[in-house]
Amino acid sequence: MSIVIFFHVIAATMFAMTLIIMQLVVSPALAKIPGGPEKEAASAVIQNRWHPIVDTVIIILDITGLILLLTRWHLIGTNIILHVKVTFGIIALLCANLLHFYYRGYKRKLKAQGNVERLAAINRLTEILEKTALITGVLAFISGITFNHSPF
Ligand code: HEM
Repeated sequence: MSIVIFFHVIAATMFAMTLIIMQLVVSPALAKIPGGPEKEAASAVIQNRWHPIVDTVIIILDITGLILLLTRWHLIGTNIILHVKVTFGIIALLCANLLHFYYRGYKRKLKAQGNVERLAAINRLTEILEKTALITGVLAFISGITFNHSPF
């Protein structure tokens, strides 16, 4: 079980860091670059180098989270901090899975079809999912650390 927690914490750290850096730094910086070949090259770096890493991190968190949910069910049900942490964790992972494994492909398809109206609606929805993942993911991380390491 300690190996599951080991990978859970490493993936959780990368997940929380990625959410913060991508949403609060990289995406706003990318938005400042005017459309054209430079912007496409910058986006390609993220798509080709970073997305596979984040996808792997999400899958590791899905697997370790599911194992912890099944094996620590009683602990989660009786400890309020862990209960709140797991609730935030499940919401964050639901949003991340939808964004990375469903909406990314769906948006690509809409773009290829030139369906601008539907794409704009889906973009609004994915922005909400991104913000929800950011807030609940960071809260899940902080409450996880609080559960095991709080000095109070
Ligand atoms: C299905 C979702 C999840 C479940 C069921 C779950 C479950 C758990 C459980 C039971 C523990 C306590 C392990 C122990 O020490 O006995 C734990 C620890 C932890 N989890 Fe999760 N988790 C989930 C998702 C997440 C997510 C999304 C994050 C962060 C982004 C996260 C971050 C952490 C952290 C930081 C710890 C504390 C590890 C330590 O410092 O000892 N978890 N998790």
